[in-house]
Amino acid sequence: MLDGKKVLFSGMQATGNLTLGNYLGALKNWVTLSDEYECFYSVVDMHSITVRQDPQVLRKRARALLTLYIAAGLDPEKNCIYYQSHVSAHAELAWVLNCFTYMGELNRMTQFKDKAAKHADNINAGLFTYPVLMAADILLYQTDVVPVGIDQMQHLELTRDIAERFNAIYGDVFTVPEAYIGKVGAKIMSLQDPSRKMSKSDENPNASIYLMDDADTIRRKCKRAVTDSVGIIQYTDEQPGLRNLLDIYCACTGKTPEEAVREFDGQGYGVLKEAVGEAVVGVLDPLQKRVAELEKDKAYIDRIIKENAEKAGYFASKTLRKVHRKIGFPDRIR
Ligand code: TYM
Repeated sequence: MLDGKKVLFSGMQATGNLTLGNYLGALKNWVTLSDEYECFYSVVDMHSITVRQDPQVLRKRARALLTLYIAAGLDPEKNCIYYQSHVSAHAELAWVLNCFTYMGELNRMTQFKDKAAKHADNINAGLFTYPVLMAADILLYQTDVVPVGIDQMQHLELTRDIAERFNAIYGDVFTVPEAYIGKVGAKIMSLQDPSRKMSKSDENPNASIYLMDDADTIRRKCKRAVTDSVGIIQYTDEQPGLRNLLDIYCACTGKTPEEAVREFDGQGYGVLKEAVGEAVVGVLDPLQKRVAELEKDKAYIDRIIKENAEKAGYFASKTLRKVHRKIGFPDRIR
């Protein structure tokens, strides 16, 4: 609890081009929840370097992501929007939590296995302990709720296990967080292979809708989306491509799958694909315009970056001090 409100934490990596999956699975829910909670939204740039990055590109993408948070509707005067690398407590708590996490637990993480397979020439220790840094992010703010897409559930379960393990030894130090998974959009799939999630690192650009894609590109990608030969619009696991398109449509329009199926009953896939394209354009076009507006106001964004890093640092250091005291580090002499 902070000022009588429950605490929410979430973050996104400033790596690659963000996709519609990132928006519908996470960012969109952040905006809906932001009034109800005391919120911390981090641009998790420290997580990004587990894979090699071009420094200039990383810096640019981090700023673009922070701007996108604001453009999506998160008020930075009320929500703490900041760069992870500006708050050193993240790295400090991660070290402590490393000592309370087992190799076996980290070995089971599917994201580690996937990324290790993809970057076989650079399986660094950071890639392996990535989930511990994520646990530190969350636990530093005594977080109650973490809105994420389904792909992050395993990391969240581990965070809960680490928190419970630590609390069992030292008393109630950490709030044990809950995941928040949105009703629709929690797992947006690739438009070219609906058995895989839509991902920023997909090599096929037609598989993902990027948040900065222009309207024509979005329409074209929707039109080319892989479906099936059944020919009937239904919302079922047997038609994963169609189901994904309906999910996207519902997440963009606020309709339920039942409503959408009724709306397109008896129509061809082409009509649905066109409607999905328009629904996505309807969401992304205003978002892109707000990003462009905000980017012009450098001084404003700079002020947000500075003030919110201080605010995050203040709360994070409170938890870190508590942790240091509990584990027996000597008090600082003031
Ligand atoms: P990242 O940067 O890969 O993704 C950011 C958010 O987008 C969601 N997401 C999706 N949701 C639905 N469908 C998809 N196809 C899709 N792809 C991505 C993710 O679930 C996530 O919510 N490890 C995290 C970042 C992180 C974090 C944290 C998150 C670091 N520390 C603390 C929450 C709390 C990650 O790599 O997300």
